[in-house]
Amino acid sequence: MSQNPLLRVENVRKSYGEEEVLRDVSFDIDRQDVEVIIGPSGSGKSTLLRCVNRLTEFQGGDVLLDGQSVLAMDVNDLRRRVGMVFQDINLFAHLTARENVTLGPRRVLGMDREEANATADRHLAEVGLSDQAESYPAELSGGQKQRVGIARALAMDPEILLFDEPTSALDPELVGEVLEVMRDLAEGGMTMLVVTHEMGFARRAATSLMFLDGGYIVERGPPEQLFERPERDRTAEFLRRLTALEEGPA
Ligand SMILES: Nc1ncnc2c1ncn2[C@@H]1O[C@H](COP(=O)(O)OP(=O)(O)OP(=O)(O)O)[C@@H](O)[C@H]1O
Ligand SMILES: [Mg+2]
Repeated sequence: MSQNPLLRVENVRKSYGEEEVLRDVSFDIDRQDVEVIIGPSGSGKSTLLRCVNRLTEFQGGDVLLDGQSVLAMDVNDLRRRVGMVFQDINLFAHLTARENVTLGPRRVLGMDREEANATADRHLAEVGLSDQAESYPAELSGGQKQRVGIARALAMDPEILLFDEPTSALDPELVGEVLEVMRDLAEGGMTMLVVTHEMGFARRAATSLMFLDGGYIVERGPPEQLFERPERDRTAEFLRRLTALEEGPA
């Protein structure tokens, strides 16, 4: 436990009706850390992210952002401070890439058009899309759209970014360009909480890897520790299957 984590998840419990999805989840994330979350389908990964920015309410425990309970925050303020990139790339089809990115800064941060455009162009450059600013989503590949989604999140100047399987809806040949942007962000010091099964990314960019199963954190530690010396059989087994999938049939 660190003194002053950026994010503290404290004994969070969450049920949907009878089903307990998160049973007692606690962890800290420091500034500039990159936490990768893995786990089987239904283990609560998306739910955990959604508790952090209150896209869903939880029944027990607390989530603290820079020491303050998210439950006590204005939800719009919270979602400005905690950006999110989803698996489904939900850009507005009738707006250009630049307009999609300026929407939040104009509406939520109250920027004028000129300032919002400058902010958008800066972040589109950051994700390698300077030359696509005028393009509409239909003119972009899935990987480019997802990078616009990342630029859109960055434009709100978040303190932490949550990613929920940002590459799992993409054609395999487009995954790399999105992971590369995410690696750049990580190296640039962005604090990130990333649900992904891209283990190359986890090895190279994660400061910590968390294995969630059955509503608990089964194991958490530096990626090399979980890969090389997992303490739990379940972790070893899950990672073995993931790695086998990634390498494909021999
Ligand atoms: N809105 C909802 N209403 C009822 N049950 C839900 C809801 N959202 C999720 N659940 C249930 O909560 C459990 C955890 O779901 P969650 O989406 O967090 O899992 P996940 O680890 O993200 O899975 P996946 O890898 O498939 O994305 C699942 O059993 C799911 O059916
Ligand atoms: Mg999910």
